Amino acid sequence: MARELTQLELLKELEPTAEANVNRHLKTARDWNPHDYVPWDEGKNYAALGGTDYAPEDSHLDEVAKAAMITNLLTEDNLPSYHRVIAENFSMDSAWGHWVGRWTAEEDRHGIAMRDYLVVTRGVDPVALEQARMIHMTNGYDPMLAAADRAEEMKANGEEVGLLHSVAYVTFQELATRVSHRNTGKACNDPIADRMLQRIAADENLHMIFYRNICGAGMDLSPDQTLRAVTDIVTNFQMPGAGMPNFRRHGVLMAKHGIYDLRQHLEEVIQPVLRKWDVFGRNDFGPAGEKTRDELAAFLEQLDKDATRFEEMRDRALAREAAKREKQAS
Ligand SMILES: [Fe+2]
Ligand SMILES: [Fe+2]
Repeated sequence: MARELTQLELLKELEPTAEANVNRHLKTARDWNPHDYVPWDEGKNYAALGGTDYAPEDSHLDEVAKAAMITNLLTEDNLPSYHRVIAENFSMDSAWGHWVGRWTAEEDRHGIAMRDYLVVTRGVDPVALEQARMIHMTNGYDPMLAAADRAEEMKANGEEVGLLHSVAYVTFQELATRVSHRNTGKACNDPIADRMLQRIAADENLHMIFYRNICGAGMDLSPDQTLRAVTDIVTNFQMPGAGMPNFRRHGVLMAKHGIYDLRQHLEEVIQPVLRKWDVFGRNDFGPAGEKTRDELAAFLEQLDKDATRFEEMRDRALAREAAKREKQAS
């Protein structure tokens, strides 16, 4: 079996890919200003400055849009946790360091734009939002949290959890947030919010491409090792909202109304990335990699079944609710 590469070897071997992709990113990314996406004339002071505090009737967002906006913003707010993971696993020198800085600055722009929009338009309760942010950021985030057993096992085997796991995680996470922001924009029923969230979603796509290319280069360099990391992440993936107040309730609302559900997770996030890496077509895996690939295939098959079951349940629930509304109306 091919020897696993150490973190230092991976960083060194993948550095040219990182450099090429930082350059590609800088050429492709478009600069934009968060203040251009906020309807400032809709704003008014809160009570501390002589105005009135938020009341639920101030918001023009429905429950689904509110839940999605809060979840997406808290995820952006939690940037220091993600920065920590990336900065710990990447080097702060060379192209790696440049990327960490640039990516962090771009992500911060997302939180700024969404927060300004929500506070100015009174889309959600700003006090509840601030309290949730405090809890969520204090909890922090560890992408291997969901795979804690697997992380323990690796440590016991003397294996390192590092670069490959974090780039695999952020590849899927960037794409997941892209899908979630895009659908949240539509759910807000406000062209200004929609434009802002489409703008942010476009950034997330470029971030995804960066990480996907690094992870893809890792797959070419050390196929079994990289596929193991990818499989650990895919089979334990949790949306970043875990650890957020109301995460379960918000997650259910978002899944129920097509902001982010299992089918989208499988078909718009997991599968396109695995196809790009040609995970099921390539023939450079060793025996260990082949075994991992079988494990991944079995997981995806089950995920497909779970998605179908969820969709059937959702269709029935939505039909029941529609019938109830009709009955009330007549
Ligand atoms: Fe973001
Ligand atoms: Fe991003």
